[in-house]
Amino acid sequence: MKQKYLSFYSLCNTKIYYPYGISGSKKTILSTDISSLWDLKISRRDVISVDKITDLIPKSRRDGILNLLNLFYQIRIFLLFILFFSSTQTFAQRIAILGAMPEEIQLLESEMSHIKAKSILGFQFKTGKLNGKKIVLTETGIGKVNAAVVTTLIIKEFHPKSVIFTGIAGGISEALKQGDIVIGNKLTYHDYGRLTNEGLSTNATRNPITKQLNPLYFSSDSLLVLQALSAAKEVTLQKMPAAASQPNISVGTIVTGDTFVTSSTAVGNFEKTLQASATEMEGAAVAQVCFQQNIPFLIIRSISDKANEKASVDFQTFKKIASDNSATLVKEILKKL
Ligand code: ADE
Repeated sequence: MKQKYLSFYSLCNTKIYYPYGISGSKKTILSTDISSLWDLKISRRDVISVDKITDLIPKSRRDGILNLLNLFYQIRIFLLFILFFSSTQTFAQRIAILGAMPEEIQLLESEMSHIKAKSILGFQFKTGKLNGKKIVLTETGIGKVNAAVVTTLIIKEFHPKSVIFTGIAGGISEALKQGDIVIGNKLTYHDYGRLTNEGLSTNATRNPITKQLNPLYFSSDSLLVLQALSAAKEVTLQKMPAAASQPNISVGTIVTGDTFVTSSTAVGNFEKTLQASATEMEGAAVAQVCFQQNIPFLIIRSISDKANEKASVDFQTFKKIASDNSATLVKEILKKL
């Protein structure tokens, strides 16, 4: 008798081939014993011995099975293909990283590889890789309008999987010192609301797409906050020249407005009325655009000044180290994404 050793797949489809003997036990089945494939009590990797392959399965059923197996085989190849390319970042979505001023993104840009520049409506965007992740980096310019415009453009053009803002802020909490970092878990405006004789009472913005009120505080993506906290444990930040201790990293509320704050009265108000840890000029605008577009976001700020009467001078003195500290944490966060 002419004997052949075949796997289940090669029985059904000669295009799908497993080397003989790669698997299981050998079963010898004579074609005369078998009326159809369903009578075969073999696993797909069993090696069987037959003398006439075509006797095993009736022609009509064989064609159906062949087609089905072929389909499964092709789906499997497709899935392997997807797995391979997704693990190598080929199809991975970019992470958008924004900063308001050149100093705030300088460190990140200097360490990017594969840089390509793209100009949209005069705004410069740089795509490339940083710490193994595909990113798109840009400078928004100062203030809420610029931040909102650039956030919208970056979402429209690059479809990022998340948006991270890096930069500096005025410290509101007493405990914060220059160089410290605030991971902004909540963002709100300090200059949006109703102006009465008693002063400004802040209220929530409205989403022009859904017509619903937005939350008063926009929440950073909770997973990104956790990843930032985890990155915080591994990062080494620069100490300010006269500082007694290493910079601290904490989580807190950031308040945004179109004003550079140099008033200890305002600092007291922000802390009391909005429970703010830090103040800056772009974060909540980025947060609002991302919220309305359903894109996860995270705002990282390092303290350059205390938003008090000395703020303008301190800002100039400490902005470089603070900017680099924020960017250093963002680099570490990228490793976690
Ligand atoms: N960014 C850094 N310091 C700031 C301040 N005092 N007010 C607003 N934005 C700032």
